[in-house]
Amino acid sequence: MFRFFLLYSVVACLNGQLNVQIDKVLKETFDCKFKSNKTVGLTLSVVRSDKVLFVGGYGFVNIKKKTPVTGDTLFQVASLSKAFASVLLTKLIEEKTNYTLDTKLKKIIPGKKIFYDSLRSDYVTLRDLLSHKLGIPKHNEMRFDTELTRKNLVARLKYLKPEGVFRSSYMYNSLMYGVVTHLAEIIGEDTWENLVTMHIFEPLEMKTSTFASTADLENILLAKGYVEYYGELHPVEYNFTRQYAEICGSGCVLSTANDMSKWTRFFLNGGRLQDGTRLISEQAFIDITTPVNTIPYTYTHKYFSKPDIPVTNIQSNYALGYRMVVHTGSTWGYRAMISWYPEADIGIFVAFTGNDPNYLYRLSLHNYIFDVYTGHIPYLNTSTICTYPEPWLKSEIPQVKPNYPKDKNTTRGQKEYIGTYKNKAYGKIKIDKHKENNKLKLKYGYLTCVLYPSETKDEFYGDTTGISLKSFDFYKFKFKFNNDKVTLKASSFQEQPSFIKKGKLYNDAYPLYTTSMSLPVVILCVCLTLF
Ligand SMILES: *[C@@H]1O[C@H](CO)[C@@H](O)[C@H](O)[C@H]1NC(C)=O
Ligand SMILES: *[C@@H]1O[C@H](CO)[C@@H](O)[C@H](O)[C@H]1NC(C)=O
Ligand SMILES: *[C@@H]1O[C@H](CO)[C@@H](O)[C@H](O)[C@H]1NC(C)=O
Ligand SMILES: *[C@@H]1O[C@H](CO)[C@@H](O)[C@H](O)[C@H]1NC(C)=O
Ligand SMILES: *[C@@H]1O[C@H](CO)[C@@H](O)[C@H](O)[C@H]1NC(C)=O
Repeated sequence: MFRFFLLYSVVACLNGQLNVQIDKVLKETFDCKFKSNKTVGLTLSVVRSDKVLFVGGYGFVNIKKKTPVTGDTLFQVASLSKAFASVLLTKLIEEKTNYTLDTKLKKIIPGKKIFYDSLRSDYVTLRDLLSHKLGIPKHNEMRFDTELTRKNLVARLKYLKPEGVFRSSYMYNSLMYGVVTHLAEIIGEDTWENLVTMHIFEPLEMKTSTFASTADLENILLAKGYVEYYGELHPVEYNFTRQYAEICGSGCVLSTANDMSKWTRFFLNGGRLQDGTRLISEQAFIDITTPVNTIPYTYTHKYFSKPDIPVTNIQSNYALGYRMVVHTGSTWGYRAMISWYPEADIGIFVAFTGNDPNYLYRLSLHNYIFDVYTGHIPYLNTSTICTYPEPWLKSEIPQVKPNYPKDKNTTRGQKEYIGTYKNKAYGKIKIDKHKENNKLKLKYGYLTCVLYPSETKDEFYGDTTGISLKSFDFYKFKFKFNNDKVTLKASSFQEQPSFIKKGKLYNDAYPLYTTSMSLPVVILCVCLTLF
């Protein structure tokens, strides 16, 4: 008994020392990132299955108000929401239906044609939706459309042309988590937000967690989101955050380091609550944490691989929103990452405001914290976390803000461009006169820009205004005139959709979604790591 007690005190004391070390390094690296306009506030928690090891907050909720971040400050966890979506769906189908993850979507949402082709319409299962196996590109910009809802999203899917092989490709697609959100609402007969609150937040005692889609964002203790805009941090409007959260299960959860410590422990405990009772069945837990898709080698690997870097960190598989187990989250203004390591019995959650190209800050913090708490000698230190990937690899040169001429006139009369352009999947773009400066204005949902003619005929740069101010880098739009039909191509949207304006003479149906097949697919918001 005495020996046990002694051992316990030594461990507790050791943890104390480790915490002091972690706190010091976090303070220093945060300061360095803060001073270089990379972030404004950061929060994190580190847990074991039986206890919370560390909770910390650094920086500010808001650069103006200077309220300090703590373990109870809310951050948008972005794609970390996907694991909430998969836990909720598996729980609901188990409790309320005879469905399994291999049930076909068409059985739950009857309809002749859900997807572009009959292969997908007939065979897509819940498991496929949850693991990015459809081979359908992202179409993330569709989320700017204010008319898009988690419900009507389903009717748009049939216009999205697949570009990968069904079940053999990994094409990360947040829209499918919008479908998952809708399915949970059908099965649970309530809003996704209420269902997550009832089935996950309440049993896990995640008391502060809420949703960007429904919370009163101005009046909760939410760290303000910031985007990096050519070396400066620019605040993200609450309305922007709220709108982009509509397809909720893909990214709308707002949580704190304290609440996320409970969520991380739930995973370390194999799907159990702190009192040992199961939140989801053992089988459901195995289902959502078993790798089911292979992640192709992506460009982030180069920053975390030998021989350049002392340690290799390979991202290889995707499970259902989760698995061993790293998932990153990135949305306008927020970056997050959760990782858990079943063998080491440790879990880490980090969230901050700002940008984090190539996940360098998030991954290096997780790597460092993991090493410290598992007794390894960290390959990183304050200075290398701050300069990562230097000294091993050169940092990318920061982009210089392009200086587009704003005085060029359109080659045609403004009237020829003005009008409503439609795309069956994306909805409507409106081109109008911009009152103040005799320019054209573009409005696609909450993406609003003033259009400046470029060097190329009928091509424009969109300089953002309104709630999307400084959220985008001069998106390009190109008009093509053909008799009575005008095509507007959103060249900077990842899948380059075209929108059509019909004149009086032109009476054909609007085209289906068109895309450029040569566009490389860049996986931006992966993923999952196996150590
Ligand atoms: C950070 O942003 C401010 C303006 O918001 C600017 O004055 C300052 O030069 C920037 N600092 C760095 C290191 O880029
Ligand atoms: C599940 O299947 C059983 C037996 O086939 C049936 O009695 C029951 O009503 C079904 N439950 C639901 C929710 O569909
Ligand atoms: C934000 O949205 C609310 C309600 O949807 C609206 O009343 C308000 O004017 C919007 N604010 C901005 C800056 O667009
Ligand atoms: C941090 O790590 C780098 C690379 O291993 C090393 O060169 C540097 O001396 C270390 N700095 C400190 C303060 O230990
Ligand atoms: C554009 O048009 C305005 C008036 O229509 C004219 O004053 C201006 O010089 C023109 N700008 C260029 C660059 O041609």
